[in-house]
Amino acid sequence: MKALVLAGGTGSRLRPFTYSGAKQLLPIANKPVLFYALESLAAAGIEDVGIVVGAHGPAIRELAGDGSEFGLRITYIAQSRPLGLAHAVLIARDFLADDDFLLYLGDNYLPEGVGELLRAGGPAAARLLLTPVADPSRFGVAEVDAEGRVLALEEKPDTPRSDLALIGVYAFTPLVHEAVRAVRPSARGELEITHAVQWLIDQGHPVRATVTTRPWRDTGSVEDMLEVNREVLDGIEGGVEGKVDPASTLVGRVRVAEGAVVRASRVVGPVVIGAGAVVSNSSVGPYTSIGDDCRVEDSAIEYSVLLRGAQIEGAGRIESSLIGRGAVVGQAPRPPHAHRLVIGDHSKVHLTP
Ligand code: G1P
Repeated sequence: MKALVLAGGTGSRLRPFTYSGAKQLLPIANKPVLFYALESLAAAGIEDVGIVVGAHGPAIRELAGDGSEFGLRITYIAQSRPLGLAHAVLIARDFLADDDFLLYLGDNYLPEGVGELLRAGGPAAARLLLTPVADPSRFGVAEVDAEGRVLALEEKPDTPRSDLALIGVYAFTPLVHEAVRAVRPSARGELEITHAVQWLIDQGHPVRATVTTRPWRDTGSVEDMLEVNREVLDGIEGGVEGKVDPASTLVGRVRVAEGAVVRASRVVGPVVIGAGAVVSNSSVGPYTSIGDDCRVEDSAIEYSVLLRGAQIEGAGRIESSLIGRGAVVGQAPRPPHAHRLVIGDHSKVHLTP
């Protein structure tokens, strides 16, 4: 069995980060989201993985390489425009050949892996993983019978017919290739994989689903990213490889990478501090990831993620924030009469009066 991991897409809900990078490379506990997917595919015994990449392909190739680091063989497949999940399957035809495969959306996080999907029994043209959610309109939604047969699917319906959302991992047989050729673009102009699966059902092919309540998240928005980061940090081990001076206090599980420095600060875990980062005269945590080469000075930060090289100086208290690579949050040189902002398109700034 092969796997096809999707890492194209525009990631519009994660702007401005997705202007300059792939959403699948945003870090959870200082590790790209995509790497969790690659690790769980390797753990499931899959060796051949195709990654469909878009505009940020070069950065993904540079980080994931040929896959040997994960015990995988990675083939990159370029998608010139984000025309949908079924389109990604369409252009991966040569790589997939006539093998069964797992389609894995690279922004989905399933900490307990894909074993449940692979172990599900009975013949089927496609197998889906479903989970009850409070807000089904944000997802693909399925109707299933008592035996786990999928009766119908809808993509992001206004009035969902069930609360069972499609998790972004699907097991397909080669029959899906006919389906992705048959579907037409949806209202959002994309070839939807949900429609391709519906096509299989309409043609009388069995499609089965496993309903799971195991943890899962689509990391498509800032709120999701912060929540997944919290969940992953909850499971980390502490350990100091960098330098922590005697004027600092570490409470609970705090990971300080080699080359990181903590001075005169209080860090309340779970927290990860990346290589080359400097934290001084600050309070950090809980539930915070500080990326490599970041600087946090004279500030307090909680429940937040700082990407590589971000700097926070004299910023007071920061919460629930995702701060981009090399971004600088600082104090005006004199008591300001106005805020001075240099922020990218689609950024969000919430100011306290
Ligand atoms: C996609 C699928 C949707 C599925 C979701 C899971 O949506 O189209 O059916 O429920 O992934 O993450 P997207 O995130 O591309 O809008």
